[in-house]
Amino acid sequence: MKLIELPRFGLDALTVRECDPPKPGPGEVLVRVHANSLNFRDLRVVQGLYDRKMHLPRIPLSDGAGEVAEAGPGVTRFKTGDRVAAIFFQTWLTGPPHAGYFASALGGAIDGMLSEYVVLHEDGLVHIPGRLTYEEAATLPCAAVTAWNALHGSAHVKAGETVLIQGTGGVSLFALQFAQMAGAQVIGTSSSDDKLARAQTLGLANGVNYRQHPDWSRAVKQMVPDGVDHIVEVGGAGTFAQSLRAIRVGGHIAMIGILSGVSADIPTALILQKAARVTGIYVGSRAMFEDMNRAIDLHHLKPVIDRVFGFGEIREALEYMESGAHFGKIVIRHAV
Ligand SMILES: NC(=O)c1ccc[n+]([C@@H]2O[C@H](COP(=O)([O-])OP(=O)(O)OC[C@H]3O[C@@H](n4cnc5c(N)ncnc54)[C@H](OP(=O)(O)O)[C@@H]3O)[C@@H](O)[C@H]2O)c1
Repeated sequence: MKLIELPRFGLDALTVRECDPPKPGPGEVLVRVHANSLNFRDLRVVQGLYDRKMHLPRIPLSDGAGEVAEAGPGVTRFKTGDRVAAIFFQTWLTGPPHAGYFASALGGAIDGMLSEYVVLHEDGLVHIPGRLTYEEAATLPCAAVTAWNALHGSAHVKAGETVLIQGTGGVSLFALQFAQMAGAQVIGTSSSDDKLARAQTLGLANGVNYRQHPDWSRAVKQMVPDGVDHIVEVGGAGTFAQSLRAIRVGGHIAMIGILSGVSADIPTALILQKAARVTGIYVGSRAMFEDMNRAIDLHHLKPVIDRVFGFGEIREALEYMESGAHFGKIVIRHAV
C-alpha cells in the first residue's frame, strides 16, 4: 500500500512511501480509504505554521472516508464493507471538550488519513450518510462538524434567525447549508462578487464583498438593522471587530478561524455592550458528527465540492487551496 508522509515541513517535502497494510488489533478496524478532503489546517500543518514542534514524520490530513476492509477481534460497531469516516478527535466521543481529547487529533497530534489503508479504534469512526459518495463523505469530519457545532452544538439556530458566514470556504458553505436547513436566513461576505453570486444559487439571501467594503458590518447593519443572531467567525484577527459590530444584542459569535491572523486590537467593550456570547469552537465530538449525519440524510444535503485531485496530486491540491480560488471543499480521490 501507499501513504504520503511529511518528513520535514514544506509542500515540497511530501513523500510517497510504500509499506505493508497494517493489521487491526482488538477493537480496531482496517479502513480502505477511498477519499480525503483538505482543510485550511492541513495546509498550515504541512507548511509548519500549525505546530512547529509537531513530531515528524507525520501522515497529514484529518479527513478521510472509506470502507471497512477488516474488523479486528471484539469489534461490534462495524463489519467488513461498512462505509465509514474517521472522527477528527479520535477520543472525543460525546459531551463537552476536554484537553485530553486534543492529543488525538488526526493529521496533527497523531498520524492522519492520507494513506490507502489506516487502522483506527472502532470508537473513532462513524457510519457515513447513505446518499453520499465517498468523496462527499470525506468532506465532513472537520469542516462540516465544525459548522454543525457552531450552529447546533454551542448555539441553537432557530427558524427565522439570521446567520452571517464569512467567505465561501469549507466551513462557511456547510454553515450556509445547515442554517438554511434550520429555516434561518443567511447573509455572507466574500472577496469575490462571482462567489457571492454562486452562494446565492445555494440560498444565500444577501452578500457583501469584504475587499470592496472592509467595514462590511455597515452593509450588514443596513440589511439587518438590529444585527445578526449568529456569526460563524472564520476570519479571526481581521474580522472579529467587524463581527462585534454586526452582531445583535445577545447574539452568538462562534469563534472558529484565523484566516486573517491570530491577534488584533479588539474593541472589547462591544462584547459587554452587546451582551454577546463568544464561543471558541474546536471541531466537535462523535455525537455531533452522528447528529449531523442524521440531518444530512433527512434533508438530502450534498456537500459543495469545488475540485477533485488524484492521490499523487496532494501538493497541487494544497497549492490550489493556498491560492484561495476554491468555493467549498477540495477532495483527494484514491484509485480504488
Ligand atoms: N476551530 C476549528 O475547529 C476549525 C475547524 C475548521 C476550520 N477552522 C478554521 O476556519 C478557517 C476556515 O477553514 P476552511 O477549512 O473552511 O478554509 P477554506 O476552505 O480554505 O476557506 C477559506 C475561505 O475563507 C475566505 N476568507 C479568507 N480570508 C478571509 C477574510 N479575511 N474574511 C472573510 N473570509 C475570508 C475565502 O473565501 P472567499 O474567497 O469567498 O473570500 C477563502 O476561500 C481557517 O482559519 C481554519 O483553520 C477551524
